[in-house]
Formats: sequence, structure tokens, C-alpha cells
Amino acid sequence: MKYCALLRPHANSRYQAETLKLARAELYALLEKGGCAAEVAVESRAGVDWLAFEAPRLDERQARLIGAAAHLYVLFEEENGALRPTTGQNPAYLGDDLPLVLKYKGKTNETFTSFMLNLALCASDYDETDGPLAVLDPMCGRGTTAFAALNRGWNALGFDVDAGAVDEAVKYFKRYLEYHRVKHAYVQKSMTAGGKQAAMLNVFEFAPTPEQFRAKDTRSLTMAALSAAGLGRIYRKPCCHLVVADLPYGVQHGPGGGKKSLSLEDMLYDALPVWVDAMRTGGAMALSFNVNTLRPEMVRGMMAEAGLDVAEGAGYDGLAHWVEQAITRDVAVAVKRF
Ligand SMILES: C[S@@+](CC[C@H](N)C(=O)[O-])C[C@H]1O[C@@H](n2cnc3c(N)ncnc32)[C@H](O)[C@@H]1O
Repeated sequence: MKYCALLRPHANSRYQAETLKLARAELYALLEKGGCAAEVAVESRAGVDWLAFEAPRLDERQARLIGAAAHLYVLFEEENGALRPTTGQNPAYLGDDLPLVLKYKGKTNETFTSFMLNLALCASDYDETDGPLAVLDPMCGRGTTAFAALNRGWNALGFDVDAGAVDEAVKYFKRYLEYHRVKHAYVQKSMTAGGKQAAMLNVFEFAPTPEQFRAKDTRSLTMAALSAAGLGRIYRKPCCHLVVADLPYGVQHGPGGGKKSLSLEDMLYDALPVWVDAMRTGGAMALSFNVNTLRPEMVRGMMAEAGLDVAEGAGYDGLAHWVEQAITRDVAVAVKRF
């Protein structure tokens, strides 16, 4: 069967052209995860770039995996030159607008965030059917990754050294749940380490329907103002299946208020072992970074040094793409096998 994927448009045509390689890699990784690895080709139709692949008719699980593709708009089956729509985007657990509403400088594009979640999932030993996974973004800003993970029906943990950003994300999520009348509980938990307060966790538990909430079929979001290093002091056991983070670009978000590559390198070197400890065996990590401030081979080298298997192949290679002046972003994915 021949399948053709129509991709979501992006307002910036240069970025749109760049994302084609991301969409292609993502589709390949999802097909591979679904057990039907196939060549993914770019085809031009009506002046638009489509992605096409040949595969046996997709089963329910495979269609659900493809329906999670961040760049997918609609997947068509092609027969005798005619296109028949088969799969669109999977429905969101809470609401499509959840990761979209907050707008701010330094926000990670939500489609890109969702793409990183998919690469981490595909590289990991876990599956959508393994029950709700837990995703950790240890540099969560105002929570784009956490919100995208919640919309997959997963649990999320988001930490950031910027207390103001975390506070804004917590307030926004509370307002979102109230506005949409989503049944929820919210508590603050003080975490201590070495006899001192190490973090104040904001914990939400919620479900899309009151029946699910009563039956305790709930999901959770935990957020706190916490540095990469601080995480290791409050979680002594693995707390997540996937780690997904968009690292500071060293342009506006350098740690310590804008210092550049050296401190970014040091920060990553110190943080990686903590993030690896936070992941369960079989879990995976996807990190995006600006190649102008962190060298790709160095990031992958550090991941390997931290004991991870760096993912390679059509789904994980050649992902560097232009974002804006001074930012060319790459993504490195790695798996924890021990
Ligand atoms: C590119 S931004 C991530 C944006 C986020 N994905 C969003 O959409 O809001 C990088 C984030 O790393 C955070 N950060 C920098 N150094 C950190 C550290 N040592 N520990 C934790 N977070 C840190 C910054 O505060 C910033 O929010």
C-alpha cells in the first residue's frame, strides 16, 4: 500500500523547508517503532512537499503511532492515483491549545517539542501501550514539553532554575484546568534534603472526565523551581521513562544569566549523570541544542560518557536545522540500557 503524508504548514517558509527533514526522520522512526520500517521519500504535488512510503496496510497500533507524528496533518492511502484520508492527529488528552496559549520569548515550538517526545519514545524500550509514561523536562521553562506530554495522556515533571517561569506555568495550568472545568487536585509538597528545604513541588492530579477522576484514572503534572543539579538531591530513584529538553541556546538563556558555551558545556557535563539516574532502564533522552554554542559531537560524546547508547540511523541522524540567525539546532537522542 502506498501512503502519502500531508504535513502541517508553518508560517515561516524557511523554517518549513528545514522541518521537512525532521518530519521525514520522525515518520521513519515511528514506522520503525511500529515494526514496519520503510523508505520515506519526499514527493512534490501541487507545489507542496509530501512524504510518501510503501508499507503493508497499517494496523491500529501503527496508525496510532503515525497519528502522534508532530508534523503530520493527514495521512492518505493512494490507490489508482486517488488519495483517501486514513489518519489525522490523535486526539489530545486535555486540549490541543494547552501548549499553545502561553506566548513568550524563548518558548520552544510545540510541534518541535512533540517531535522530540516522539524520537525519545521511538528510541526507548517503552511503548504507548505500557500505561502512562512519565516525561521529565529538567529545563522546562514555562512547560511546553510537559504540556505536550500531558496531551499524549502521559505524566509530566517539569523543572527549571527560573522560578518566575515555573510560577507562570503553574498559574497558567491551574487557570486552564479551571476554565475548562477539568476535575483536578492541586497540592504543594515541600521536599527536604540534608535537613534543608530543597524544593517546593507543585503537584496536579487530574482527569478529563469526573468519572475518570473518581475512578482514579488520573494523570499528574509536577513542577518546581529546581536546577539541573538540585534534581539529584530530591529524587533518589528513577522518576521518568523519557527525558526531553530544549537546552539553553546560549543567546538569551545561558545559565547564570547569559554566560556562553563554556558554562553551558560544564552545566551539561554536571547535569547528564543526574538526568541519567532519573531515567528508568530502557528509557531514552532527547536533547536539542544550538550547534553554535554546543558542538554536536561533544553533546553525543558526553551522553555516551554518561553511559547512554547514542541513537543512530535514519530517524536520528542529520537533524541539524536552521531556526533563526545565530541558532542552528540539532537533536541528540540516547537510550539507557542499564
Ligand atoms: C530553551 S529554554 C527552554 C524553553 C522551554 N522548553 C519552554 O518552551 O518554555 C532553556 C531553559 O533552561 C533553563 N535553564 C538554564 N540553566 C538551567 C539549569 N542549570 N537548571 C535548570 N534549568 C536551567 C532556562 O531557565 C530556560 O528556561
